[in-house]
Amino acid sequence: PPRPVVNEPGDLPVTAAHRGYSAVNPENSLAAYAAAMKAGAEYVEIDVHTTADGVPVVLHDQTVDRTTDGTGDVALLDAATVSGFDAGSWFSPAFTGEKVPTFAQVLDLMGTGSSDLLLEIKGPETRAEVHRTVDLVLDAGLEDRVVIQSFDENVLTYAYERAPQIPLGLLRGTLDADPVATAERLHAAYYNPSGSALATRPSVVEDLNAAGVGVFVWTIDSAADWTRFTDLGVEGMITNRPGAFVGWKAAQ
Ligand code: G3P
Ligand code: CA
Repeated sequence: PPRPVVNEPGDLPVTAAHRGYSAVNPENSLAAYAAAMKAGAEYVEIDVHTTADGVPVVLHDQTVDRTTDGTGDVALLDAATVSGFDAGSWFSPAFTGEKVPTFAQVLDLMGTGSSDLLLEIKGPETRAEVHRTVDLVLDAGLEDRVVIQSFDENVLTYAYERAPQIPLGLLRGTLDADPVATAERLHAAYYNPSGSALATRPSVVEDLNAAGVGVFVWTIDSAADWTRFTDLGVEGMITNRPGAFVGWKAAQ
């Protein structure tokens, strides 16, 4: 896959809207996605799980309990049932009627804007489920506008075998002993640590960038942290507040 253009320390990172513009919209909803595009986010981050009948849908948790008015494990529910739940009213009555989007709906919406997609495929997904999600990207002709990321190494392996041209990102909540070697083993163009993990060894940004590996750090919502990670030279800032981050960058 194409290697990322790496930043110098102080270069402004791209904006990646975490679960859409989730500070002011229900996370992972089409409303959150549209608002992130409108705010000027270069990437919109979403989370994908697959339903019992094999349909990739967009929500964060393994269950629908927190972010809808339904209950149950998404992997045990069929898509028609999941799409019948309300996914907006838990956040605010103003969003009553928002649904759990299918991944196909998000790809359709992407076609109306210029934001790229930071597609997190949640584990543990089977090889067939990952291939199905990847195939939707390929069928939409959007492989040049998607980065696939996961905490699950198997997900990255399955994605790579299906579509090696799509860049991969490895998510980590703690740093590997040798992040460059880990990224290279998994063919990952990006190594995406939590802010707290990156703070334990900030020099890994320089090491990864020197190897041509990009870094998107998550989930970073304060101006103090935007400054700190921008000064390290990260390529992307994953934030719940994309509008504020776009404004912060304009003021630098
Ligand atoms: O994009 C990084 C971040 O989304 C990973 O954590 O739990 O929000 O999916 P989580
Ligand atoms: Ca995520």
